[in-house]
Amino acid sequence: MAERVEIMLTEEEVDKKIQELGEKISSDYAGKQVHLVCVLKGGSFFMCELAKRITVPVSLDFMSVSSYGGDTKSSGVVKIVKDLDESIAGKDVIVIEDIVDSGRTLSYLLEMLSDRKPNSLRLCTLLDKPERRVVDVKVDYTGFEIPDEFVVGYGLDYDQRYRNLPYIGVVKFD
Ligand code: IMP
Ligand code: MG
Repeated sequence: MAERVEIMLTEEEVDKKIQELGEKISSDYAGKQVHLVCVLKGGSFFMCELAKRITVPVSLDFMSVSSYGGDTKSSGVVKIVKDLDESIAGKDVIVIEDIVDSGRTLSYLLEMLSDRKPNSLRLCTLLDKPERRVVDVKVDYTGFEIPDEFVVGYGLDYDQRYRNLPYIGVVKFD
């Protein structure tokens, strides 16, 4: 089966949106320091680009959870593969995700992080597929709401490939 990627959101559209999100976060957190928690690996490209556009002081940390195998369907299992290096107690935390799909990963993660007593906890996602939601999750900052299609690029993978695409695309099988 041949595989190809069709562009859904161009590099220019994604960059423009990230600039807007950076400006919004900078004004919402004026006078504060923001602690960005990147959900690896998918959130990494988005977090780097977003962090460069935030003008208040920024600190960063990373965590890795797994809920998917080499497949396009959720297994419903969320496992912490790598925890944060630093405590988030008292910090103004924004979790940075590539995409909210069923919401299972984020609802689990946000509950776990809120137990660690941050001063505030928000969620920022580049993409949201609201039609796919199984568990309710409050998203504070969204780049784009997209239809129910499996997307790749800008950190998102299909079987670990395509993360490096500078745009968002849809994998098509001919
Ligand atoms: P959720 O727990 O179902 O919301 O899944 C969130 C995670 O599933 C994301 O962080 C992605 O890693 C992965 N995922 C969901 N939809 C897609 C997609 O369209 N392309 C690539 N990865 C996806
Ligand atoms: Mg992810």
